[in-house]
Amino acid sequence: MEWLWKSNSLRLQVTEKIWVLAVVLGVLTLTTSGVESRKARILDSFEYSAISCRAHSASITDFGGVGDGLTLNTKAFQAAINQLSQYGSDGGAQLFVPAGKWLTGSFNLTSHFTLYLQKDAVLLASQDIAGWPVIDPLPSYGHGRDAAGGRYISLIFGANLTDVVVTGDNGTIDGQGALWWQKFHGKKLKYTRPYLIEIMHSDNIQISNLTFVNSPSWNVHPVYSSNILIQGITILAPITSPNTDGVNPDSCTNTRIEDAYIVSGDDCIAVKSGWDEYGIAYGMPTKQLIVRRLTCISPYSAAIALGSEMSGGIEDVRAEDITAINTESGIRIKTAVGRGGYVKDIYVKGMTLHTMKWVFKMNGNYGSHADSHYDPNAFPVIQGINYRDIVAENVTIAARLEGIPGHPFSGICISNATMGMARKAKKVAWTCADIEGITSGVVPQPCGLLPDQGPEKLEACHFPEESLAMDSIELKRCSYQKKYL
Ligand SMILES: *[C@@H]1O[C@H](CO)[C@@H](O)[C@H](O)[C@H]1NC(C)=O
Ligand SMILES: *[C@@H]1O[C@H](CO)[C@@H](O)[C@H](O)[C@H]1NC(C)=O
Ligand SMILES: *[C@@H]1O[C@H](CO)[C@@H](O)[C@H](O)[C@H]1NC(C)=O
Ligand SMILES: *[C@@H]1O[C@H](CO)[C@@H](O)[C@H](O)[C@H]1NC(C)=O
Ligand SMILES: *[C@@H]1O[C@H](CO)[C@@H](O)[C@H](O)[C@H]1NC(C)=O
Ligand SMILES: *[C@@H]1O[C@H](CO)[C@@H](O)[C@H](O)[C@H]1NC(C)=O
Repeated sequence: MEWLWKSNSLRLQVTEKIWVLAVVLGVLTLTTSGVESRKARILDSFEYSAISCRAHSASITDFGGVGDGLTLNTKAFQAAINQLSQYGSDGGAQLFVPAGKWLTGSFNLTSHFTLYLQKDAVLLASQDIAGWPVIDPLPSYGHGRDAAGGRYISLIFGANLTDVVVTGDNGTIDGQGALWWQKFHGKKLKYTRPYLIEIMHSDNIQISNLTFVNSPSWNVHPVYSSNILIQGITILAPITSPNTDGVNPDSCTNTRIEDAYIVSGDDCIAVKSGWDEYGIAYGMPTKQLIVRRLTCISPYSAAIALGSEMSGGIEDVRAEDITAINTESGIRIKTAVGRGGYVKDIYVKGMTLHTMKWVFKMNGNYGSHADSHYDPNAFPVIQGINYRDIVAENVTIAARLEGIPGHPFSGICISNATMGMARKAKKVAWTCADIEGITSGVVPQPCGLLPDQGPEKLEACHFPEESLAMDSIELKRCSYQKKYL
């Protein structure tokens, strides 16, 4: 266990070790290269913020990892994490990934564990599709999204865990998705494409200060989980890449996503909770979700989408300070007959939008069913949707709001929204059907189904004052002592 360090005992020894190092280096110079057996150590520590700090540390290089972009490191990652999992009940462990290109297949996380990617560390997802493990479809979806059967496991996967941190100094997780997108377009996939990170049935999760690029499909997927902090992440994928959603909170409680910069080919944030009869049976909503300081560029999708898979329900979503540029819609609710479930108590305050096809979009006829066994009487309930303090420019259509005939979307409130229309804007700025609600201080003038309450009610649409549990999470300052061979 030579590579293991007890963090707290270390600091006192720093000076001493540097002296030892100088001596060993002297020896190495004299005996030239190839002297791998003597381990000299340079100590160099750094700090980061996390929900918990760890007592034990190791680097991927301690497990034979090679960051040359060519060596496959799947076994090194899995061996490291399996080994470190034994410290779960003894203060937990952190695994450090130094600068380099670390080619790897999928690996599984463990509890009381931190994965830390240094600034110039890049995890490169293996392109060996045949060697990629396949797991069951999500129970709340019944089917894979790309193909009926199973799905390729995510690059970084975790199930039934507690207290997991995936963070770094803006290190990168690169899905090398082009090959997968090609197979998807060519209908050559036997199973649903992998995500970059999926955490299932877990609690107390932090994903922060990382860059995700070129995911094969969705990027970050917490599902059936709670108490999730996602902070300071950048997500980049070509704007035409298929289904490269940014973050998909799915049947999760207490999630806080903030300071995210996302450029993608699909929704920047897609809030979900299961698909048709499978999602209804599973019955697990997404609730108490905070999204703050999101910047989104997604010309073919939404900054924040609710659905279309929402059969377990979505409630109490609070979005603030949303910026979208060259994005199809600001907030979009998508659902269909057969979904069941609900979308209710949605609060959005403060959106700055530039170059939008629609600012607001809702559709009740999204289709896209898991299979033909959905219940034609499972009508989704869409109720209590509040949007306020919105400034948009270069807008083609202000809103397209279409509920379900006989089952209108109700309690819609839009206040203090100024939408500057594009030179080539459509003549009809609002299209509304099967919806009920009010507006106040909205320009251009809303449709008749959302009667204007007058300009003095700019604060008409509610935004909750009381904070949620995720607001009081306190991050600790943690440290890691690097050592080099
Ligand atoms: C992310 O990085 C920023 C700036 O470097 C730092 O202030 C913040 O504490 C970090 N957050 C987390 C959760 O690591
Ligand atoms: C990771 O976990 C999944 C789900 O339990 C399992 O199918 C897979 O074999 C695990 N992978 C490894 C490398 O243990
Ligand atoms: C995790 O726990 C759930 C039940 O809570 C169980 O159905 C599932 O099989 C477990 N998954 C794994 C990968 O261990
Ligand atoms: C992280 O890296 C990405 C990609 O290089 C960059 O766009 C982003 O600005 C960086 N974030 C921080 C906080 O440095
Ligand atoms: C306005 O939007 C159109 C697309 O609708 C785009 O081509 C144009 O560049 C935008 N103009 C500005 C000033 O951003
Ligand atoms: C209206 O929205 C603007 C832009 O977000 C904001 O600055 C202003 O405070 C809002 N007005 C009221 C009365 O809330």
